[in-house]
Amino acid sequence: MPKSFYVTTPIFYVNDAPHIGHAYTEVAADVITRWHRQRGDSSFLLTGTDEHGEKVLRTALGNNTDPKAWTDRLVKDSWLPLLETIDVDNQDFIRTTEERHKVAVQKFLKQLLDAGHIYQGSFEGNYCVGCEEYKNESDLIDGSGEFEGQRVCAIHSKPVEQLNENNYFFKLSHFQDRLLEHYEKNPTFVQPESARNEVVSFVRSGLSDLSISRSKERFDWGIDIPWDTSHITYVWFDALLNYITAIGYGTDEEKLHSLWPADVQVVGKDILRFHAVIWPAMLMAAGMEPPKQVFGHGWLLVGGEKMSKSKLTGIAPNEITDVFGSDAFRYYFMKAIGFGSDGSFSWEDLSARYTAELANGFGNLASRTVAMVARYFDSDIPQANEYQPADKQVQEVAAQAVSGAEAAMDRVAIHEAIASTWKLVDELNNYITTQEPWVLAKEESTRERLGTVLYTSIEGLRVLAVLLAPVMPKACEKLWAAIGSALGELSNQSISEAGVWGQLTAGTKISELEALFPRVEEK
Ligand code: ME8
Ligand code: MG
Repeated sequence: MPKSFYVTTPIFYVNDAPHIGHAYTEVAADVITRWHRQRGDSSFLLTGTDEHGEKVLRTALGNNTDPKAWTDRLVKDSWLPLLETIDVDNQDFIRTTEERHKVAVQKFLKQLLDAGHIYQGSFEGNYCVGCEEYKNESDLIDGSGEFEGQRVCAIHSKPVEQLNENNYFFKLSHFQDRLLEHYEKNPTFVQPESARNEVVSFVRSGLSDLSISRSKERFDWGIDIPWDTSHITYVWFDALLNYITAIGYGTDEEKLHSLWPADVQVVGKDILRFHAVIWPAMLMAAGMEPPKQVFGHGWLLVGGEKMSKSKLTGIAPNEITDVFGSDAFRYYFMKAIGFGSDGSFSWEDLSARYTAELANGFGNLASRTVAMVARYFDSDIPQANEYQPADKQVQEVAAQAVSGAEAAMDRVAIHEAIASTWKLVDELNNYITTQEPWVLAKEESTRERLGTVLYTSIEGLRVLAVLLAPVMPKACEKLWAAIGSALGELSNQSISEAGVWGQLTAGTKISELEALFPRVEEK
């Protein structure tokens, strides 16, 4: 089996329903995956849910239910439907409570024990249940409000708990040099650059071994340690393994090798260290390759703070998609926030961009071009005649949009790929305004010129449909159905060849196009 391009999202805690921060990660990973598929590679997107640990357990108990019933309900009612809401095309969905996961986690633990990477010890430290992580003093800040006078977690703004444990440890400290060497030799392993720098300096400052089990005396919602059933597996050690347990680790070597190492593991910067430090060390201990890249994106902020489930600052994704649709959701978050930077969501900004960039920009370009071909050429794609400089410029901008977007996506700069594509949207709108096909249509003597102008416009739309399909699959499918179906399915149009001019054939019928981005009523 040839290797597929493998993309993952974090698996999310099911302590509550998803908000737009989770949807943001899902969309980014989906755009990357669809992009590679549109380029002609086979690609695979994995997402899922993280269901064990104290945080989920406490929430379930706090809601007077047991954790299994709680997670079953939330996954079914909220997390799976999210994927539909934002049009994510994932190839698998893993829940850590599934048998396939538990069995493989135990196999991995046994493998590390046998190889001498696990020992028994005791530990004392400050635990943040929100992060499910022991915190160093430098990760804490002074609390405010009800926690005035206490030290609290910088991410969750809640006090940490003093824990004293006797459990199993993974010899993480042994991997410090190998990790540093790996970062050195693979400069794009952690991206963006700011994330990479943070990780390198964190590892340089020294690593402690990692406690990877919890005594059942304290709580019992996790995967049994296979050689000592008085302990369960630490939730992060369990969770990180999903990326390989879902694709056949321990059961299907062929499938594993057709996907691993992952090409891009998309995570929020809150969980960067787990993915860029602990995870590659775990894999090294098991004799496996680290992923090719871990990309730590920024946070959606509310009032300058990370939007969060636990602080109840979340906005449900369908509040946005119900009004603007999934394509606009995907476009907005991918274009308006530099991928890797923090950003704030605002209804005003979304609404303004929807109108200016989608309805009046791309949508209107598509509908007026299609309408003019229908009106002036009875829906037959016209013949292009002699190309003039203005037409050649469109061709050039189209080719540059493709190469620019490809280069940007190779750096996972999703916003830049869209910006590169948008130069063609703007160019075409400008071209139509200056060429005035409605004026050319008035005289028989300019009919040839009219054909060239409309052929140029519709070819430009073809390029846009292919380039934007990974970001706005629904609108691009509609557009393709109107103008491109004679060339085969949209999914078979390779991005790399999209910029080659002249693919649509004169004389081919086009069909009607409904508005891609209908006007939204003022709320
Ligand atoms: O950490 N802005 O799960 P989690 C952007 N189960 N992204 C955000 C966000 C925001 N305001 N809020 C959440 C966990 N996210 C673990 C992961 S992986 C083996 C285990 C996204 O439910 C972002 O991707 O707390 C972040 O990293 C993730 O949700 C954290 O989700
Ligand atoms: Mg979290």
